[in-house]
Amino acid sequence: MLKSKQPSKRIFSGIQPTGNLHIGNYLGAIKNWIKLQKEDNCIYSIVDLHAMTVPNNLLDIKNSTLEVAAAVIASGIDPKKSILFNQSNVPQHTELAWIFNCIARIGWLNRMTQFKEKAGKKKDNATVGLFSYPVLMAADILLYKATHVPVGEDQKQHLELARDIASSFNSTFDKTLNKDFFQLPEPFILGPAKRIMSLRDGRSKMSKSDISDASRINLMDDKDQIFLKIKRAKTDQYPIPENIDDLENRPEALNLINIYASFSNKSVNEILLKFSGKGFSQFKEDLSDLIINEIGPITKEMNNLMNNKDEIVRILIDGSNKAKEIASEVLYDVKKIIGINFKD
Ligand code: AMP
Ligand code: TRP
Repeated sequence: MLKSKQPSKRIFSGIQPTGNLHIGNYLGAIKNWIKLQKEDNCIYSIVDLHAMTVPNNLLDIKNSTLEVAAAVIASGIDPKKSILFNQSNVPQHTELAWIFNCIARIGWLNRMTQFKEKAGKKKDNATVGLFSYPVLMAADILLYKATHVPVGEDQKQHLELARDIASSFNSTFDKTLNKDFFQLPEPFILGPAKRIMSLRDGRSKMSKSDISDASRINLMDDKDQIFLKIKRAKTDQYPIPENIDDLENRPEALNLINIYASFSNKSVNEILLKFSGKGFSQFKEDLSDLIINEIGPITKEMNNLMNNKDEIVRILIDGSNKAKEIASEVLYDVKKIIGINFKD
């Protein structure tokens, strides 16, 4: 008898504890997590083992984990409603990842654009961990038989790999007629903030690793920093158009309008209607106000939580215990299906 059940809907997502969180993470991921927790069964993880693939982050993972947990809670994730935990506290993640390492093909991983970008020209010098990063991510998701995974657009390819691993597992090992032990997880890429771009270059993604701090707005930035960064954000000399198609070759303008739409919970068209024909100066002032009004209270609450780290640790341990209950049943079944379970 198998132990795990397939829930009709279960949300899983993860975020790496690597340094400063920015409004790309907030709009592309965390804000959607909060919307989803209202009605769904959600599991959210601070993926500290994934963060080990970022070399200069190794010494500070514990503190970053607490900081990211604080940001997620301050933004509105309620640990009583959703399961919130750090990945390394649930050892079943790495165990399932090993099993998946024996299913995923090098050819599949070689296609991953994130690996190519992160490894750069010195591919031979990259760690095996960085290469098999998406395999651990597949384990994160499938360990809970998650059905939907809210992420930014940059993670879509990793989700496809998780689906390939799930279907390969089903067809290789599942001896039932339906071969459907793992339901294939769907990416959930929501809202106008799928991909927030750098404030300095509308063609590259807003990222924690960009050397220019002016390229992003961090959740820890204060009012003055936000105001100044938006004021200096790159734009062009043309007025704001009426039609979204006219933004096609204006990536910086499009990016700021997307950010505006996301913070105001309105559509891009509504924003264009409001500002069409105008320049960027009033728009930028309004945008700074919007960001400050939403981020300000979160920053304040993050700072409060960081003054009480024991409470964050307690929340993460409690979440890990809940996660383990689900994870151990699924892993039990996986081993049983493969034929390496000696427990019964
Ligand atoms: P990471 O910080 O890389 O662990 O990303 C955490 C989450 O934020 C993932 O769901 C990413 O897809 C999302 N994310 C990161 N950067 C951006 C961005 N510039 N725009 C939209 N979403 C993002
Ligand atoms: N790779 C994701 C990122 O960088 C983080 C992540 C790890 C994740 N495991 C996950 C996201 C599982 C969704 C589901 O953003």
